[in-house]
Amino acid sequence: MTTQHASATPNLPLDMIIFGGTGDLSFRKLLPALYMAHLHCNLPPDTRILTIGRKPWSREEYISEFMEAKAKPFIEKKAFDSAAWDKFLALFEYVRMDVDSVEDYQRLKEVSREGVRRVFYLATSPDLFTNICENLSAAGLVDENSRVVLEKPLGHDLASAQEINTAVGKHFSEAQIYRIDHYLGKETVQNLMVLRFGNAIFGPLWQAPYIKRVQITVAEEVGVGSRAGFYDKTGALRDMVQNHLLQLLCIVAMEPPVSLDPDAVRDEKLKVLRSLRPMTPEDIARDTVRGQYTAGAVNGEPVKGYLEEDNVPAGSRAETFVALRAHINNWRWANVPFYLRTGKRMQKKVSEIVIEFSELPFSIIPSGGRNYGNRLVIQLQPEESIQLQMLAKEPGSGMHMLPVNLNLDLQQAFTERRAEAYERLLIDVIRGRLTHFMRRDELEAAWAWAEPILDGWSKSGDKPRGYTAGTFGPAASTALMARENAVWAEESQ
Ligand code: BG6
Repeated sequence: MTTQHASATPNLPLDMIIFGGTGDLSFRKLLPALYMAHLHCNLPPDTRILTIGRKPWSREEYISEFMEAKAKPFIEKKAFDSAAWDKFLALFEYVRMDVDSVEDYQRLKEVSREGVRRVFYLATSPDLFTNICENLSAAGLVDENSRVVLEKPLGHDLASAQEINTAVGKHFSEAQIYRIDHYLGKETVQNLMVLRFGNAIFGPLWQAPYIKRVQITVAEEVGVGSRAGFYDKTGALRDMVQNHLLQLLCIVAMEPPVSLDPDAVRDEKLKVLRSLRPMTPEDIARDTVRGQYTAGAVNGEPVKGYLEEDNVPAGSRAETFVALRAHINNWRWANVPFYLRTGKRMQKKVSEIVIEFSELPFSIIPSGGRNYGNRLVIQLQPEESIQLQMLAKEPGSGMHMLPVNLNLDLQQAFTERRAEAYERLLIDVIRGRLTHFMRRDELEAAWAWAEPILDGWSKSGDKPRGYTAGTFGPAASTALMARENAVWAEESQ
């Protein structure tokens, strides 16, 4: 698939139009990110932000009830500047709309200017995407300068994702569609591409048999919070694995793209997704673990189990944890397992990619009975860091070796401010840079691989395994690794 780039006029004034303008994502992420972009002069000079919601608020009420009360606390204290904030607030209009009502789009049309670039950010449930795009188009709000941003999860399965993509594609060309996965906006994730494709030393080793295993973990301390309505229908596989974890896997596993052009990068990621070995029912039973947290303690604070959380239906089988073993069927990665793991209410917040290199074929230097291999640990959260675990001589008269870390301290090397993922991606949308967004075929390939796992789980009739909040998931997750004498990264420290 290639993306025909629309001949959009650069540097147009911007109307950023946010559907879901009173929702969680808006106050936690989008509006603080836009504030930061404004503070650092990254919004076009003539920008307006139109937020859309159902609440019958006036502009002033929106500013006080939502911007001041809910969004402002999510801005980092040290970045807050009251003069910049006041100027930022002056960019806002609030438009009360029922997104299913055709007439309400006329109101939006009256507020949005002509001759500007309209960016429609759909931070709503994906069930609404089709109607919103159709109604925007019918109201004459979409032109060749418009762009649309689609939040994840895009669809519930492959068929619904295809349906949405087709419907949105009737009104926006592929070059106008920005399917967002905020993991692609994280500094360390983008840095992984530079690490892989900017350093000659990794090139020859970045494959089987020199790499023997890859671990990708995204562990969160938070529980489902107030999002049970969404989360219970979604679960961790759809919420995290189908998108964030598979995107990380793609960046680790892809072939060098011919350039950083959006299609060049996305073509390579697509090839990885299409090479993922489909899971049979036997593979699913053997190589996947799903869990659900039970009451426990996180950071010394007692927390409820998932089933006791507000708005979780009794007996829910939604998984809050997934661990699985994936394989990529190609020459580079033959027989290299990729272990993916994510969960809520885990022992600590940590997102990292661990590349485990193979051990020496034969060692002449004693290592205390342990067989150490080199490891490259790319940590995304809580701190951004890259460490290469090497073997060095233990000081003393003997010749013993022990692992030590070669630490790439990015915070010290680069003192510049690092933009948060949403800020970076919003600026990309405004500037028309598609490289860090998912193309239709990529997203559908991810669904095509993930959906059979969901089907397999539901057909098996098994319940997710319980795990105590504040741990690293069910014992079966440790057992999944133990089968090949391996351990998850935190157990090897
Ligand atoms: C979102 C998921 O996409 O990513 C949330 O919907 C999850 O459930 C969040 O908490 C994690 O993002 P981050 O950047 O905090 O790791």
